[in-house]
Order: sequence, then structure tokens, then C-alpha cells
Amino acid sequence: MNYQLLGPSGLRVSDICLGTMTFGEDWGWGASQDASRQMFDAFAAGGGNFIDTSSNYTNGTAERFVGEFVAADRDYWVIATKYTLRRPGSNPADLNAGGNARKNMVRTVEQSLGRLATDHIDLLYLHMWDYSTRPEEVLRGLDDLVRAGKVLYVGISDTPAWVVSRAQAIAELRGWSAFVAYQGAYNVVNRGIEADVLPMTRALGLSVLAFDLLGGGALTGKFNRPEGPGEPTRARQIDETARAAAEVVVRIAEEVGRTPSQIAIHWATRRAPNVIPIVGARRLSQLEDNLGALDFELSAEQMDALTAVRPLPREYPHTFWNDFVRGDLIYGQSVGKLKTDRWPM
Ligand SMILES: NC(=O)c1ccc[n+]([C@@H]2O[C@H](COP(=O)([O-])OP(=O)(O)OC[C@H]3O[C@@H](n4cnc5c(N)ncnc54)[C@H](OP(=O)(O)O)[C@@H]3O)[C@@H](O)[C@H]2O)c1
Repeated sequence: MNYQLLGPSGLRVSDICLGTMTFGEDWGWGASQDASRQMFDAFAAGGGNFIDTSSNYTNGTAERFVGEFVAADRDYWVIATKYTLRRPGSNPADLNAGGNARKNMVRTVEQSLGRLATDHIDLLYLHMWDYSTRPEEVLRGLDDLVRAGKVLYVGISDTPAWVVSRAQAIAELRGWSAFVAYQGAYNVVNRGIEADVLPMTRALGLSVLAFDLLGGGALTGKFNRPEGPGEPTRARQIDETARAAAEVVVRIAEEVGRTPSQIAIHWATRRAPNVIPIVGARRLSQLEDNLGALDFELSAEQMDALTAVRPLPREYPHTFWNDFVRGDLIYGQSVGKLKTDRWPM
């Protein structure tokens, strides 16, 4: 395992983050406590120190398992959790048991601290934008939690780039805790973050914690086999796009003697160097497989073949520069001599 600084912070995290949406059987497809423990132990033995959970995963069971597993050496671990989704066990009639407002933020954090059996959360993400709470309320609430020592760093997930960019500027100008990481879905068939989120994170120096790297398991190719996946899976329906993408992933895996899962995870980290993969697994063998995703290189042709699986539709305003405006209309005769690629994608 190698390590890196998380975004612009001085926090040291492993190059792979362990996802825990599979910890607990409350949602019908997760891992038992023993199986979760085995995965946690294998991740620790592999040098991992970065763990991703959420207040709502498996109705709170994932956070409870994490709390038990880290108890022997809490300080070693960088625990990231999230708030936004409705608090487990809340009154269905309670309007404020979910969302990004300060009331749900503070109550969720109190409950997460209890389940995690800790006095601080290393990284708290806003889980998803709720399109109703103003950034100032979110940022000031997060900053108060940091000042109270209950949260050390803040991040944001599943939110449009323009919102993050605006929020970051407000936090910096007001001296509030600014985001150090963005969490979002990314894989060869789901490249939406390449349009605005990735350039935004590079410009702001944020790490990107990527999930859905295996398309929920589809990109491993196990659903393409005539005999089917050969193991119980959480995925129910695999669409044609994922099936076709998995064929390319499997072909390249065979070419280089790696597993499809390793290829799918590897592609994201090489395509965007500020990506830290969140590996999800439901059993030990899957986790062991996924931990081998970083220590090899693909050729440029192999990377291109994976990227070509689903070309990113580039639309206005991203196309305006090349399709309509020529460089010399802006730079005059200096075009070709002036280095303009300050934030290359
Ligand atoms: N911020 C967010 O909104 C958000 C959303 C989702 C997830 N996350 C985080 O990201 C983590 C990973 O997300 P994800 O579950 O969507 O990721 P994923 O990596 O696309 O899918 C993981 C699933 O693929 C299957 N799998 C994993 N490794 C495999 C292997 N080596 N071979 C074959 N199948 C394998 C397992 O399901 P089966 O065994 O059932 O096939 C596993 O549950 C989560 O645990 C969570 O921490 C965050």
C-alpha cells in the first residue's frame, strides 16, 4: 500500500479506501459481522487506514461494525462518514430527520459518534445535495462541528460542481473549514464527473473518492458468463451498456493477466490521478482481488480502449472553444506560444 495526502490537507490516507455499504445484512445483500471483520482485517493487514461509511448504511449497522472493529486502535484509522439521508429509526413523520439543514446535521453526527463509539469523526461528508438548504447554513454548521472537535475535516458527495465551487469560495473567504474531498460515482460507463466535477476538483486541489467503480459488480463480467455469476449477488438487472463494457474490461484483464475488477478500478485511478478508489466487497475473496488494482500499468492503447467504451458526450459550453472560437480570436498572434492549459482535463 502507498499513501497520499487527502486533498489540500495534511491528513495521510492509504491509496485505497475501504467501503462499508456491504457491512451488515439489514438491506438483504450485505456481509455478516464475521465476514465484515475478515474484510476489515485483510484491509488493515494490507496497510489500509482509510474507511468509508455513512449514517444510513445498513440502517446504522455498518457504523456499529466499524466502531467495534477500530476500537483496538481508533487513532490509526481515518474514518469518513456522511450525513443527509434520513436517520435510521427516525419518525417517518419527522420532516427534519433527513436533509442538509443544521438540525439533521447535528443530530446525525451525535448518533454517528454513538454508533462509531468515538469522540470524533475524521472526515464528515455532506452525502448529497438536497436542493433546499443554503450553502452558508451547511458550511457554518460543518465549521461549528470542526471547532467543537467532533469533526476534523469536511467533504462533499453527489453534488453539482457549481455548488461545491461556490461553497468552497464562501468557506475560504469567511475562514470556515473548506472541503478537502469530493465523493462521486465513476467508471467506464458512468463518466459524468469528467465534464465539470473532475476539472473543479483539480482546480481546487480536492481528492476524489470514487465509488461504483465496478458498476455494482457488473463490470467484473460475471453476469456475461452463460452460467451467470456463480455466486449470490446484489445486482438484479444488468443493462446492455454494462454488459458490452464488461466484455472490454474482461478482454484487457486477460491480456495483462489481471482480474476484471482490478482493471475497472485501475482505469479510474490512472485516468484521473486525484482519484482514490473506494473498494466495495461482499466477501473476503472479492476484497483481496480489489486490493490488487494499483500495482501494475496498462499500455496507452489499453487505457484508450477502456475509455472508448462509452465516449463522453461533450456539449456546450465545453465545446464552444474548439467548435466556434479559434485560439487566435483571443490570443492573437501569440496563439501556439502561450501556455494556456492551466487546468487540463
Ligand atoms: N457517496 C455515495 O453516494 C456512495 C454510493 C454508493 C457507494 N458508496 C461507497 O462506495 C463503496 C463502494 O460502492 P459500490 O458498492 O457502489 O461499488 P462497486 O465497487 O461498483 O460494487 C461493489 C459490489 O460489486 C461486487 N464485487 C466487488 N468486488 C468484486 C470482485 N472482485 N469480483 C466480483 N464482484 C465483486 C459486490 O457485489 P455482489 O457480490 O453482490 O455482486 C460488491 O458489493 C460503498 O461500500 C460505499 O462505502 C458511496
